[in-house]
Amino acid sequence: MKPALAASIALSQLGRRAAPPTIARLMAMALEQPGLLSLAAGFTDNTTLPVAELRTAIEALAARPSEPEFLQYGTNQGRPPLRRRLAARLAAMEPSLDAAGLERHLLITNGSQQALYLAMQTLCDPGDIVLVDRPSYFVFLEMLAGLGVRAVSLPVDDGGRIDATALDARLAELARAGEAERIKAVYFISYFSNPSARSLTEAEKTVLAETLARHGLIVPVVEDAAYRELYFERPAVASSVLSLPAWREFPRFYLSTLTKPFASGLKVGWGVCTEGAWLDAMLHAKGHHDFGTANFNQALCDQVLADGTFDAHVRKIRSVYARKMRALHTALEGAGLNAAGWRWAEPAGGLYLWLQAPRGLDTGLESAFCRACVEAGVIYVPGDLCFGDDAPRNFVRLSFGVLGETELREAGRRFVTTAKRFA
Ligand SMILES: Cc1ncc(COP(=O)(O)O)c(C=O)c1O
Repeated sequence: MKPALAASIALSQLGRRAAPPTIARLMAMALEQPGLLSLAAGFTDNTTLPVAELRTAIEALAARPSEPEFLQYGTNQGRPPLRRRLAARLAAMEPSLDAAGLERHLLITNGSQQALYLAMQTLCDPGDIVLVDRPSYFVFLEMLAGLGVRAVSLPVDDGGRIDATALDARLAELARAGEAERIKAVYFISYFSNPSARSLTEAEKTVLAETLARHGLIVPVVEDAAYRELYFERPAVASSVLSLPAWREFPRFYLSTLTKPFASGLKVGWGVCTEGAWLDAMLHAKGHHDFGTANFNQALCDQVLADGTFDAHVRKIRSVYARKMRALHTALEGAGLNAAGWRWAEPAGGLYLWLQAPRGLDTGLESAFCRACVEAGVIYVPGDLCFGDDAPRNFVRLSFGVLGETELREAGRRFVTTAKRFA
């Protein structure tokens, strides 16, 4: 319930549109019911958070003979050595990219969430449209709603791959309705997606660019690579929009984060924007938000990237997440969720299992199934939150990020016991 407003306060349109984030509600439910196992929050693993590594990094910073500038304000665009290092890492992943060019176009943000907000804030007005993947990152979708922006899904086939024929038809429909010029951007999560765990292939990314171009829609593209480094065994092979030829004419914003692969509490994200005017606008807006991401956190990130601690940590957590994923996956399988008509693919990275329930089973936040899960002591993210439009009601996102393996097995057992009651 919205709190009553003091008579003297009149909120702006944005203030009025801002709805409480669903994730806060799910987290509150977990707190209200002791013993509830949460498969909802996209938190990272607590037991492997790099405490000792950060202590060493702080000591290394404090031992520097120079002035402790890392405890002073930094620059709006981000700490130069960190920008250089992140640009070099990306160029090492995609050798056709030039590290010096990337560095000039790279900004450091307060988590990649801020990069997403800056991108949308500088492109979209209320009533505009953003094309989004299907399913998509639900916090991004909530952000669009908060900005008064409409999300329109990129159609997919039964296997979840971008369906170019259906996209053609959808874009033609938007043009006929006079809405094509309201399309301001396209957004997708391309590596071990939240929530689907899928990675886009180069062919899919290319066909998407070609289809948009055929419709004259050379609009800005935002590629969210938050989970690119969080593969279990092998990285996803596809290059990003920064190096795929089909995207060359498009304004491109590629973003990623150091929170998921290292420490989410540091909230350091980053993005590379190919279009000068757009980058400048985002930097100006960032100047209004905070005039620079926490310099200390950036200095820590730079330190751990420089001395190899970051890479050692991410190598360690890849196998931890792989084991946790398998604990949950096999618990669901072993308890007979498939036999109850549920379907999901085993992920190769990321933090999520994306489950399709039998058609007709409503898994929404207010559904009988969701209530039964909470009563059984387990909570999940209802999948309908993850669709920009035309949301099916029978999907569920399960996160294996935060719980330990034993708890994951117990949460899986509770989930399947409930699912069987509804089969
Ligand atoms: C797909 C995706 N993008 C961006 C973010 C934002 O993460 P952060 O702000 O911690 O970098 C998240 C966080 O869950 C995410 O799942």
